[in-house]
Amino acid sequence: MTTQQNRITDLFGIQYPIIQGGMVWCSGWRLASAVSNAGGLGLLGAGSMHPDKLLEHIHKMQDATERPWGINVPLMYPQIEELMDIIIHEGVKIVFTSAGSPKKYTSRLHEAGIKVAHVVSSSKFARKCEEAGVDAVVAEGFEAGGHNGREESTTITLLPLVRRATTLPLIAAGGIGSGQAMLAARALGAEGVQIGTLFAVSKESSAADSFKRKCLLLEEGDTMLALKKLSPTRLVRNDLYARIVEAEDRGASAEELHELLGKAASKRGIFEGDIENGELEIGQIVTSIQKIDSVTDIMSRLIREYDVARQQIIDNV
Ligand SMILES: Cc1cc2nc3c(=O)[nH]c(=O)nc-3n(C[C@H](O)[C@H](O)[C@H](O)COP(=O)(O)O)c2cc1C
Repeated sequence: MTTQQNRITDLFGIQYPIIQGGMVWCSGWRLASAVSNAGGLGLLGAGSMHPDKLLEHIHKMQDATERPWGINVPLMYPQIEELMDIIIHEGVKIVFTSAGSPKKYTSRLHEAGIKVAHVVSSSKFARKCEEAGVDAVVAEGFEAGGHNGREESTTITLLPLVRRATTLPLIAAGGIGSGQAMLAARALGAEGVQIGTLFAVSKESSAADSFKRKCLLLEEGDTMLALKKLSPTRLVRNDLYARIVEAEDRGASAEELHELLGKAASKRGIFEGDIENGELEIGQIVTSIQKIDSVTDIMSRLIREYDVARQQIIDNV
């Protein structure tokens, strides 16, 4: 997958089929440009940016890399029309949409010459992507950090189902933290990978240092899927999480849960570093991270591991 060109590298014009997932409070121009400059595809995470902030990051991105890059747009974004206008006006070439129907914006983005990928958590939504005419589909298992599917399908279960449901170029997401995992995704029909957690904890991520340091201490079982009444989200088990679970156990309504979270809970946790009272989003694969590495170190490790693992399998056959 890494050394050969395939439909994903061709579609986006990148060297390696490694996509850095758009991530609220983590993936600004610094992280995204570092990934693109290392031969992957960096995505700005528009989900945590006001339109004027996104514009600023687009301009910085244009200065920081000449390689392909894109923007992740969660479709429940409140000022989405304004955001789409900026993206089209600024000549952005690649958009990854998530958390909504791919039907609504794909044709408008295509008319502007923009390539569109959409993130799904089930084969049903993968078929909707094909109907909507998207260029690639990201199948994200529930190991992943951030908001998650209600189906709770793991990546290893989801990939073959999505592969069977659509002929679209397929990108695997959720739980990928090594070249070996990339190879497994390849064996299950994916032509590329989207990685969030590893890059959220990288040097170039805009997350708070205390958040990154907390991530290094996490062990198995320290992240859980919560907030199923709102939007299922994988969270670190901190004080806020305990209060959420207590409220959920006594049958709290969606409104009560909103109130409990308070304003900008993910900003408080991930960006401002309030480790106990903020919402800390990170994936299960966080347990594999030993230190805060640079993007170039992460990228070269993934590529090296992939090539070695592939060769070992060939040699053993
Ligand atoms: C801190 C964090 C924030 C995220 N924010 C978003 C987001 O704004 N939009 C989105 O589509 N996915 C978001 N994700 C999901 C990632 O883009 C990616 O698909 C996922 O992290 C892949 O799984 P992994 O965490 O196991 O690598 C986020 C993930 C993390 C860890």
